[in-house]
Amino acid sequence: MYHAPRGTTDILPQEQAYWRYVEAKAARICQLYGFERIEFPVFEDAGLFFRSVGESSDIVEKEMYVFEDKGKNRLALVPEGTASVCRAYVEHGMQNLPQPVKLFYFTPAFRYERPQSGRYREHHQFGCEAIGEADPALDAEVIDMAWQFFTSLGLKRLNLVINSIGCKQCRPVYVNALKEYYGGHIDELCPDCRTRLTRNPLRLLDCKDPSCVRLAEAAPRSIDYLCPDCQAHFEQLKQYLGILGFPFRIDHRLVRGLDYYTRTVFEIQPEIEGSQSTIGGGGRYDNLIEEIGGKPTAGIGFATGMERIIANLKRENIPVPPLPKPQIFIAFLGAQAKDEVTKLTASLRKSSIEVVQALGTKSLKAQLRQANSLGASLTLIMGDEEVKAGTVVLRDMTRAEQETVPLAQVRDVLRSRLA
Ligand code: HAM
Repeated sequence: MYHAPRGTTDILPQEQAYWRYVEAKAARICQLYGFERIEFPVFEDAGLFFRSVGESSDIVEKEMYVFEDKGKNRLALVPEGTASVCRAYVEHGMQNLPQPVKLFYFTPAFRYERPQSGRYREHHQFGCEAIGEADPALDAEVIDMAWQFFTSLGLKRLNLVINSIGCKQCRPVYVNALKEYYGGHIDELCPDCRTRLTRNPLRLLDCKDPSCVRLAEAAPRSIDYLCPDCQAHFEQLKQYLGILGFPFRIDHRLVRGLDYYTRTVFEIQPEIEGSQSTIGGGGRYDNLIEEIGGKPTAGIGFATGMERIIANLKRENIPVPPLPKPQIFIAFLGAQAKDEVTKLTASLRKSSIEVVQALGTKSLKAQLRQANSLGASLTLIMGDEEVKAGTVVLRDMTRAEQETVPLAQVRDVLRSRLA
């Protein structure tokens, strides 16, 4: 027997109500904030991610699904959506459109991680990118949008954390300060962080190892090393967030795991313990478009994992609207009746009435059981007698009441009963 690959899951019909609910809320919030949908391939030139997500990020270094196709092209399954959206922005000349260009997407994302609760090798993201504007008011708008999205889902106990990690000018000074600080504590670092210290010192700040957490508390803070422009940007962002009026906390340990970020970074975390708790995150990436071959263009966005949102909805017992059940089930007894109900089924469907027809040679009792388990509110039953009389039996499944209806009137009767 085959199984879904480790770290992947099937999204079965009974889960679909959650997915449709989250997708509908996401699409609504995007409409409210003026974002348009984009779709991109599930694989891209692997180089795109080396240049954007970054060679020293865990994603590129350890987790990317890279493969060579039969044409010897080096491709990667997308580990996230930002790089693809930026590639599409450059490729389709979107810098000629009014800026910022605001795009949203749903995408599967692939990362070869150690699977655990809330961490998969294939997960699904809803993400938004606003490209072509450096105004901190846009940072506030995108953060607000993420916050309003989670709120609109009914999620309550959430925390918003923000930070600024500076730009090309001021970050190197900060990184040096970090190297110097951690250099004096090498013995206290976990083995991973000892290697990270040379390759990607920022990542030491969000290591979960208890000893590294202790060290990070006292580490230099990026906001103390911002150049005047980055400092002004951060001050204005805080001012706009204040105007929008929702609570946020500055966390100097928030650096995010992708290398493309500049200035603003943020995450939304539920108030629960656990290392996989972040449900959404994002930030600015003002160098990314240039890195992948476009003109210097600012941008900011966020993404959130559908699976983690749904886990939070379930944990908080937030009800989601059930998906519609089939309206009508059609049962039959005998070969002649089967021919008639096949005709009837087709004609009702043409009239936009949702119908499931019984098949095979099941007993009437078994057919009614099937109608019940599908959740159909009405069942039509036809046997030899009804065929002869040109009628059909209409059974109300909740009241267990039956009446006989002439075939010529069945459509109108159903319409009035379903209204
Ligand atoms: P990210 O933080 O790597 O950011 O992923 C975004 C969200 O995807 C996370 O907050 C989490 O909910 C979910 N997620 C990530 N990895 C997994 C996994 N292995 N299993 C389940 N869920 C996961 C990005 O991907 C950036 N592209 C976000 C962004 C957009 N920044 C700017 N624009």
